Amino acid sequence: MCGIFGVVSSQQVQSSLIDGLSKLEYRGYDSAGLSILTANNKIKRVRCVGKVKNLKSLLVKSKSRGVCGIAHTRWATHGEPILKNSHPHNSKCVSIAHNGIIENADELKKFLLKKKYKFTSDTDSEVIAHLLNYFVVYHNDATKALIAVTKKLQGSYAIGGICDKWPGTLLVACNGSPLLIGIGNDENYISSDMHALSNKSEKFILLSDMEIATITKDTVDVFSQSGKKLKKTISNSTKSNIEISKGTYKHFMRKEIYEQYDIVVNAIKNKIGAYGLLPNIFGPNSDKLLLKTKHIHFVACGTSYNAALIAKYWIEDVTDIVCTAEIASEYRYRTVNVPKGTLFVAISQSGETADTIYSAKKAKTRGYSSLLSICNVPESSLTRLSDLVYLTHAGPEISVASTKAFTSQLVALLFMTMVLSRTSSLKNIEKTILKQLKSLPSILKRTFSLEKIIKTIAKNFKNKKHTLFLGRGASYPIALEAALKLKEITYIHAEGYAAGELKHGPLALVDKNLPVVGLMPDNNLVNQVLSNLAEVKARQGLVYIFTNKKLKNSKTDKTKVVSMPSCGHFVSPIVYVIPMQLLAYYVAIEKKTNIDQPRNLAKSVTVE
Ligand code: G6P
Repeated sequence: MCGIFGVVSSQQVQSSLIDGLSKLEYRGYDSAGLSILTANNKIKRVRCVGKVKNLKSLLVKSKSRGVCGIAHTRWATHGEPILKNSHPHNSKCVSIAHNGIIENADELKKFLLKKKYKFTSDTDSEVIAHLLNYFVVYHNDATKALIAVTKKLQGSYAIGGICDKWPGTLLVACNGSPLLIGIGNDENYISSDMHALSNKSEKFILLSDMEIATITKDTVDVFSQSGKKLKKTISNSTKSNIEISKGTYKHFMRKEIYEQYDIVVNAIKNKIGAYGLLPNIFGPNSDKLLLKTKHIHFVACGTSYNAALIAKYWIEDVTDIVCTAEIASEYRYRTVNVPKGTLFVAISQSGETADTIYSAKKAKTRGYSSLLSICNVPESSLTRLSDLVYLTHAGPEISVASTKAFTSQLVALLFMTMVLSRTSSLKNIEKTILKQLKSLPSILKRTFSLEKIIKTIAKNFKNKKHTLFLGRGASYPIALEAALKLKEITYIHAEGYAAGELKHGPLALVDKNLPVVGLMPDNNLVNQVLSNLAEVKARQGLVYIFTNKKLKNSKTDKTKVVSMPSCGHFVSPIVYVIPMQLLAYYVAIEKKTNIDQPRNLAKSVTVE
């Protein structure tokens, strides 16, 4: 994973490196570091465990000043998050930062040990530094050295490097991990994403797999692995320069939970016209394609996968289309059967999740009718791969635990269900969904007003070790999402279960210390969920029910019922996820955890 930022300029680059790196911190925050070539042509490296703010303080004290440098924020893969494993890694005349995984690192290490290189870290990345040094000495030519290095590497990498032989030059290589070159005035940049370049440059070059580059403040030269100089397209960024701040909120997560209202309102405003859903909102001729679709394979990770699961319920409810929803890390390695007329749909907030990207690449070769992505980031690896793109326009999501991206995906998937329902023999489905969607903003407002109650309930979870969330139908993926949110930010072990599965195992966990949360919109499954919760109560479990059904509780019943606003069947997952997000948030407040940047996690998972 990790984030890489680099600058070569006529001015000193320290603050620019820190600024760029801070914007990449969502990619990992186990450690941070930078290397700068000083005026007397020495590589000055500063590294620290933890966040970029620690690096900033160290940099103030150090004498690292120069016009060319690279910086890195790490999410540990190989080697603990300790100082010696922090990037950049040095080898005599070179210093490099790496994002990705080098699969043949052990083999390369053996080769380098024979050449008397000394290893000081447990990372796979250090082999790149030594290899680069080896080939710089051998070829005395930056391009030839980079080509030789990349020919040896197996796996994924974005590499930014500096070398004291070429003081004003950034050395760059890319394969399977994203890297952009930003074109500035009298300075150029490298960055893992567009966002970190937003206040620096509007023009950028996207490096493709197996490309290398040498970059000075005035020039950018990109080469193929065969050494051919490439003419790369310079693109203009369409990303608006949105200033990202918490505003009056204490955490991005709570801000993003509340932004869900506007996201829903805007999606309805922008995609629904006087006569219903606008045509082809999933891309050119997409309506025609969707109407011919017989099967859909949804593929995603994390929260986006939970959105895919809900889409499967919705679509199979109202059409004859056969849907599967699959975790990308499973899909990418298994044998997949693709019947004629199957659409591949990738769902991803970032558009950079490695397993989702690899799955999409695999799908391209498997005869799908099309590759459609539902994504929040316009200039992402996933959108570039896709034939059709639906942008969710949720705005930058900063909190690692996804909230608003999920809702925006669900709205997109409901739109998709509307289009697909046109083939259905059931009457008026599209109109019913439309009506429910239009009612959603006011229902959401009423749902947010439950915050105070949820804040109180959260206190009961503070000292719990485990929690179960139960739901049936489309509320089952919401139970999964609720459990995911709770474990991500509170570190309480939580599981989401289809309520009917309770008796097949998890019931064994129930005792007077286990909170069990039932998600129970008043629909055809209510009685079944109530029976399942009765099984919990009979074993003294602590039951919390979120429902819009009026329940008659006896005075001795300790069940806590949270009365939800009534809502239509199709929009209920969007409504019921809100209190689950707030519950996780307030339990995390109680536990004083790092809500926006929980331990061990990262926002964008660019390694498998
Ligand atoms: C990480 C994030 C999750 C996210 C998942 C998939 O695990 O922490 O919030 O759901 O990646 O990310 P994507 O960007 O593909 O939706």
